[in-house]
Amino acid sequence: MTTIEATPLPQLQCESDVGIETIPLASEGAFAGWQTDIPERYRGLGGAELVERVRAARAALGARAVVLGHHYQREDVIQFADRRGDSFDLARYAASHPESEYIVFCGVHFMAEAADILSGPHQQVVLPNLAAGCSMADMAAQPDVLGAWRELAAEFGGTEEIVPVTYMNSAAALKAFCGEHGGVVCTSSNAASVLAWALERGRRIFFFPDQHLGRNTAHAMGIPEQEMALWNWRLPPGSRGGLSGDELRRSRLILWEGHCSVHQRFSLTQVERARGRHPDVRVVVHPECRAEVVRAADAVGSTAYIARYVREAPAGAVLAVGTEINLVSRLAGENPEKTVFCLDPVVCPCSTMYRVHPAYLAWVMEELAEGRVVNRIEVPEREKEHARVALRRMLQLA
Ligand code: 13P
Ligand code: SF4
Repeated sequence: MTTIEATPLPQLQCESDVGIETIPLASEGAFAGWQTDIPERYRGLGGAELVERVRAARAALGARAVVLGHHYQREDVIQFADRRGDSFDLARYAASHPESEYIVFCGVHFMAEAADILSGPHQQVVLPNLAAGCSMADMAAQPDVLGAWRELAAEFGGTEEIVPVTYMNSAAALKAFCGEHGGVVCTSSNAASVLAWALERGRRIFFFPDQHLGRNTAHAMGIPEQEMALWNWRLPPGSRGGLSGDELRRSRLILWEGHCSVHQRFSLTQVERARGRHPDVRVVVHPECRAEVVRAADAVGSTAYIARYVREAPAGAVLAVGTEINLVSRLAGENPEKTVFCLDPVVCPCSTMYRVHPAYLAWVMEELAEGRVVNRIEVPEREKEHARVALRRMLQLA
């Protein structure tokens, strides 16, 4: 019988290195870089008071509001979510629940935009903290992507054979670009079927912003490395992303050189160390991790997949998880009969998800309860139309 050592849960680091208890917003070291126009009266409130106030506002709103929570949200926020999920599940939920007037999205900006695009015209989407963005999404600025598209058109004498595919983690403008150019959106839970769909329609895929999700999915589909090209968007316009004509012509997948700063930290050494310490360990990682980490893992999938994988593992299992620490810590707590730990011993949470402090949630919910909408996420109508095409294509595929 295997003896299971209790593996200590990693301490939260970076912006949240004070631990997982709620501290007043004013005491958060990074507050100055967050949304600072939250009224003064919310800044000094402690955990217990915030819980009470969010609960009261929730009760006053009743069925008029639904609170959606991404798996990476902090414990003191996710506790209020009516629905928890990965980004695909939450987008699908927003598309199929027209009954709530308000969708309070505890997640990051691109997720709230997707909810706005897919929900009805009578629904309003609210993001508690407008500074909750995504560093990966920010790596694909619209002018850079449009510039690259024009360079690709010049190289291939048009773009008829290129299908643009954007990862959900991107601005609404890029989803609209894909919708307008015969392309589609994908998430970490449906990337393989989306890429297969795109390859049936074109010779090549232009995939942004996450190189790792694109590469890992292509590997799983049997596309060799030589048929992938990496577009360096940091180079000056006209540099063809640093690629030669030859490299571009033999590519079936042109990958944007973007990454997630949280997932790029996971390494092969960490996987080997986990296997050395726990011979029976199962390693499960998110597809935003580097290819060598994904290859060395036992399983790969979206946040919802990872949660299911841990839940379905037998009692006594040892699980090393390569994803954001709030989810890993929660899974460890919910599965006390298993040993669940994060692959990375020096963990950095998703600092932008962390910005959704419960004080912001209390603020937006209390305003809604009073009939005022603050922090509404509203994608411009024209952008919405095209982005909806790309998102609906994705929903039909999954
Ligand atoms: P999921 O779609 O797997 O929830 O992932 C979203 C994300 O931002 C991962 O970093
Ligand atoms: Fe973006 Fe990475 Fe945070 Fe996901 S974990 S929201 S990809 S920064």
